[in-house]
Formats: sequence, structure tokens, C-alpha cells
Amino acid sequence: MATNDIINVHLFGHEIGRLGIDENTRRSSFQYNPEFLKDNVLSNIFPATGILKRTTHVQLFSQFDNDTFSGIPPQFADSLPDMFGSIIFKAWIESKDKKHISVLEQLAYVANRGMGAIEYSPAKKIPKNTEINLKEIIEVLKSVLNLKQSKQQESLDSKALINIFKIGTSAGGARPKILISENKADGHIIPGDLEYSDKYKHFLVKLDIEEDNNYPRETIEYCYYLTLRKLGIRMMESKLIDDKHFATLRYDRQNGEKQHVLTATGMTGWNFRDPENSSYENLFKLCSFLKISHAQKEELYKRMVFNIIYGNTDDHLKNHSFIYNKASDSWDLSPAYDVTYALNPLLDFKNKSRALSINAKRTNISKSDILKIAEDFTIKNPEGVIKEVQSQKKDLLKLFKEHGIAKVTSDRIAKKIGGLKYD
Ligand SMILES: Nc1ncnc2c1ncn2[C@@H]1O[C@H](COP(=O)(O)OP(=O)(O)OP(=O)(O)O)[C@@H](O)[C@H]1O
Ligand SMILES: [Mg+2]
Repeated sequence: MATNDIINVHLFGHEIGRLGIDENTRRSSFQYNPEFLKDNVLSNIFPATGILKRTTHVQLFSQFDNDTFSGIPPQFADSLPDMFGSIIFKAWIESKDKKHISVLEQLAYVANRGMGAIEYSPAKKIPKNTEINLKEIIEVLKSVLNLKQSKQQESLDSKALINIFKIGTSAGGARPKILISENKADGHIIPGDLEYSDKYKHFLVKLDIEEDNNYPRETIEYCYYLTLRKLGIRMMESKLIDDKHFATLRYDRQNGEKQHVLTATGMTGWNFRDPENSSYENLFKLCSFLKISHAQKEELYKRMVFNIIYGNTDDHLKNHSFIYNKASDSWDLSPAYDVTYALNPLLDFKNKSRALSINAKRTNISKSDILKIAEDFTIKNPEGVIKEVQSQKKDLLKLFKEHGIAKVTSDRIAKKIGGLKYD
């Protein structure tokens, strides 16, 4: 057994249970804290999607031993770093001459720094730092991500990495990103989010570190954000920092409080890397199961239509989330995020298959497929939604121009978007 084979799980000040893993058999276990169950509060924090049962018995899991879940129930695997975070984590651990750490040790590092509101204890201590230097962070990131000569990589020490480790490993996703907090009164920026309160604005910042003038991904994402907002699709307020990094307010830090959130993958155990359960139909069914309001289902429909028409093929199950409402013990669809032109428009891709299928199709989606979903889930006026979404094409191209996107890039995207046939 690994040394740290049990960890306590907390939410909103309650110790809700204990998570364990046997590193040899790769089986994990979870046991609710009987006191927590007895209090009968927060009863819907893990909706009954067939994974965690509200019982005092020890529950065992062997089905999650893969890259997405690292052996543990999806509700907790959501707290682990994704691709980008894992690269940083590994670099930092290796810089400390450690080769391997268990998944529970990783959660001990996540501690109270994770996305959402779930916290883990006992925590591993890491030094505090209070200043942030974006340029320096980007330099180190470049080295870690192999974008520079390997010579420079060798000089990476744990001191250089620690800052990024602390503020860059919590958020999921594949792209480089960090978490920062901005003082509302004086605009001063501090790393991470440990000072969460109403005094701060907490941002997730997707960094433009490639400096490819023709393909400024984060600026494109920002133009998409402006378009989505115009269409009435909820997104957290966002801005560009230094005209190139995409900073978006965190929906899991609102009103000075941590919000409990789960991705669709974390909620259900549907692996976002596996086509098996990756469909819009499943997302709509999950919304019905969670008793999400019809207005939010209509919004999900609009997001789906947008993703089809505007080339966001990377709309996988971790790019859709839900927020828990503590007062009503119920769930809402989270604001939209990570909605952008998913592929490098300057390259030709053969396989443009969508992450989420629609009417069992991942390519060549037609109007009838979109209308079928509306019929199945009683969405009103789908034709009107399609027209409205399509109508933003010209304005999006204008936004590209205003934000200095190269003509060649804008033209490429223009060719692909706006119609129903994206492929
Ligand atoms: N505004 C936000 N507030 C809180 N959490 C967010 C926000 N935006 C994104 N996230 C979380 O951070 C994760 C990573 O963000 P995002 O999906 O934008 O990054 P990415 O690296 O582009 O992802 P991908 O691997 O899908 O390309 C998301 O899966 C989501 O859980
Ligand atoms: Mg994402």
C-alpha cells in the first residue's frame, strides 16, 4: 500500500467522507462519514448517477482505473489536474527528485486549492508566494512544455516551477492556464485563489504562450466569447490580458464563496475521451435527470447549435459542467466555457469528427439531425435558434478584424463557419 492511502474529503465545512486507494490492486474506496449522512444536509451534492450511494458502507471501485479517472470515483477525479496540470505536476515532482506520487498524494497537494468546493486533508504544505510575474511564468512554462531548447529545460529547478505548480495545476484541460485573483479596489493581482473573498475577482487565465501571430488562439476564443454573449448564452465575464491572454471569471468562485461544481464526466463517470457515452442526447438526458430548468435546456440547445455552426468540435463531456445550488440542494447548468474554433484554421485536418455525437453522427450533421434533438427534448422554435445563431457570422468576422486577427486566419474560419455544414 502507498503511504498516504486514505484522505479526508470536505465540502462546505463538513467532513463528508474518506477516500482510499490500494495502489497495488488499483481499487479505490469511499465511505461517507456517518455523522454527515445522519445530519441529512446537502443530500444532492453527488446526484444518484449510479456511482456513489448514500450509505455508511464502504463502497469499492475498480472500474475507474484509466487515464481519465486515475482509479478514483469521477466526482473526485474532477479535482485532479488534467493534461496541462499533469505535465507541470510531473515536472515539479521530478525537479524534487521524486519519481512517482500516488493519486491520493496528488489530492493532498490539491488540498484546498482545487477547482470547485471539494477539499482534501491532510494537506501537503507548499511555500506561500504573494507576487506574480506573468512574463517569468510564461518563460518557465515554455521550457516545461518543450517549446524551447532542451538545454534550458535542464536548468529548471523546483523554485521556478513551484509558482506555476501552485497556480497552474488545479484547472483542468489541455491548454496552459493559471489561476489569479484581482483585488477589486486597486487592481493588484495575486497568484492563485487562496484569498477568496468578495474583495477579489478570481480569474482562470488561458495563456497565449506560442506567439504565433497568425493563430492567436486566446484572442479567437475572446471573439467567440463576445459572440456567445450577444446570443444570450451565459458565459462568465471575460477579458484579454496584455491583449493576448484569455482571462475568464471563475464560476466556481462567486460572491466570495466556493461553488461546488462537477463536469458532466465527473457527475456520471462517462469518460470524455471515450465516444461510448459522448453524445448530446446523453447531456440532455442528464439535464432531465438533474431537473435542470427547461430554459437552461433551451440554452444547451443553443450552445449545441452554436458549436455545430461555428466549428467548436471539441465540445466534449468535460467542456460541460453543472453548479450546485446550496440553498435549494439542486443543480444548474454552468455558464458555457471553452467555446472556440477548435482546430488550427491554417492547417488542413482530415478528421473533423465531433467529440459529442448528434443523432449518432459525428460528421456531416444536417438540419434534420438538429431538429430531431429539438423534437426529442421538446425544444421550441429550433429553426429560429438556427437562424439567430447563423446571423452572428458577419459580426464575428468584424470582431476578428477589430482584434487584429490576420486576414488569412479570418478568411479560413469564414469559409468554414456560418452554415450548417461545417465538415
Ligand atoms: N470560467 C470558468 N470558471 C470555472 N472553471 C472553469 C472556467 N472555465 C473553464 N473552467 C474549468 O477549467 C477546465 C479547463 O478550462 P478549458 O476547458 O477552457 O481549457 P482547455 O485547456 O482549453 O480545455 P480542453 O482540454 O478541453 O481544450 C474546464 O474543463 C472547466 O472545468
Ligand atoms: Mg476544455
